[in-house]
Amino acid sequence: MSCGSIFAQEVICPVKELDGSTKVFTLDRFDPKAAAAQLGPGPGAGACPSPQQVPAGSKAPFFLGTATASYQVEGAFKEGGRGESIWDVFSHTPGKTFEGQDGDVAVDFYHRYKDDIALMQTLGLRNFRFSLSWMRILPNGTGTVNQEGVAFYNKLIDTLKAACIEPHITLYHWDFPQALYERYGSWIDPRVVVDFAAYAETAFELFGDRVKNWFTLNEPESYCLLGYGSGVHAPGRCTDRSRCSAGEAGEDLKCIYYSALAHASAVKVFRQLVPDGVIAMTNAIGMSVPYNASSQEDVAAAQRNQAFNGGFVLDPLYTGDWGAERKQVHGQQLPAFTPEQKALLLENQQDFIALQHYTSNYAYYNKDKPPLLVDTTTKSIDGVQLVQADSPWLYVFPSAMRDLLNWLTQRYNQSILITENGVSAPGEYDKPRAEVLCDQFRVSYFQQYISNATVAVQQDGVQLLGYFAWSLLDNFEWADGYSKRFGTIYIDYNSTGLDRYYKGSSMWLSNHFGLTGIRSGPVANSTSSTGGPPAAAKPPAGAPAEADKQQARSEL
Ligand code: GAL
Repeated sequence: MSCGSIFAQEVICPVKELDGSTKVFTLDRFDPKAAAAQLGPGPGAGACPSPQQVPAGSKAPFFLGTATASYQVEGAFKEGGRGESIWDVFSHTPGKTFEGQDGDVAVDFYHRYKDDIALMQTLGLRNFRFSLSWMRILPNGTGTVNQEGVAFYNKLIDTLKAACIEPHITLYHWDFPQALYERYGSWIDPRVVVDFAAYAETAFELFGDRVKNWFTLNEPESYCLLGYGSGVHAPGRCTDRSRCSAGEAGEDLKCIYYSALAHASAVKVFRQLVPDGVIAMTNAIGMSVPYNASSQEDVAAAQRNQAFNGGFVLDPLYTGDWGAERKQVHGQQLPAFTPEQKALLLENQQDFIALQHYTSNYAYYNKDKPPLLVDTTTKSIDGVQLVQADSPWLYVFPSAMRDLLNWLTQRYNQSILITENGVSAPGEYDKPRAEVLCDQFRVSYFQQYISNATVAVQQDGVQLLGYFAWSLLDNFEWADGYSKRFGTIYIDYNSTGLDRYYKGSSMWLSNHFGLTGIRSGPVANSTSSTGGPPAAAKPPAGAPAEADKQQARSEL
């Protein structure tokens, strides 16, 4: 039986496990009506078992779930009183996104959220991370609350709760209100700290009675570097006037600075309004692994690079100041934290580290460069290239997951929640649906990354709180439009109903974690297990970069 063979409307998908055995899943279109009939009425929000499950092989109960973000899935960009965002403007500007694609409709989550919740239920998923669209709640970014927007998120939260799915809310996942951008340029102005804290306060007041798991800002290191450094994401600011109509040197650093202060200000309000909740910023962090582990110079270079990138945002959050490596490289360009700001950061620390991890690299010492400008590569000293995903910045390097969890634990001594981990599989844009559904590449990525995280917990004592796969659904992948599919559920963009299909990865994740949805089990187990330990993380690849994004992302 080959992966992707079709029987009627179904794809029979044999998925290989790390131990060599095979599980066979049946993949088909998600049918909301049939699902509703099978699921029946839930136990009711009050009667749900704890959303912290105990995954196979772990010591502790975890939050296990999938994640999305408002602009990437909601669509309905002019409905329900929603104001305009910087991503509306950016994606409507010719030349900024793949084939000029935008999030006007996205995957229509705004209208289809009930079906998508039922879909999660069929997989037994008990946790869902999503973001609020700031402009649905405050169309101008500040001022009058839009009751239609509030009603949408109330319905979403209440439907999730009734389905025994715990909401985990991100306040800001890159869709900044255009009205505020026009007023003062967003994250590069001190007014954003006040406005973000006021928006956060509104959200905590509106939803904090039911939602206890919150995130402030999604990956400042991504939106600051890509939006205000290279200019390849909204609002598209950079110093190169042939590509960006606005932007000055150092804005990316200012953006991180004000993001840290906005985060701490929101945490301060949160402690008052949701005293029984938890909150963190999410950070995109990769691992710099020494190219030559026997070379002291490479080991030191990798450590410097790791502190420079991994500590970029977390150092200020935990120490109230920039890390030494950042100070050495940027000098006067770094906005200084005043004593009051330092106190704000230290007095309003987050509850855990929310890690978003996709890719890593090898770092080595280059004697011709200043010591802090470390070179990196995706090829090992043995000449083995890391496998490249469909996204040019993403190289598969699973063993670095364990290294990274250990590095974070040693540096910050905090527990860690993995809030994003996932991959785009090569060729998914062009391949026929039947082949894309049986996504062994994505399954293998999850298997190896999760297995390395499990080793970090079991052998190294890392405190892991949970794991969210990115993403529940294929969606609008920012400047790459719909050309990259990170979903564990496939979207048929050519169908009028934006039909959802199970991919092998959604079924595998559900089955691997022992979830108990009506679609959690394989149809058959093969007995061809070869036994032995999990496969080591190596493989090849390594085409050159998609210039700006690659450069910025490889720094993570
Ligand atoms: C993350 C981001 C997500 C998604 C993912 C894959 O950095 O938070 O929105 O785009 O990368 O590129």
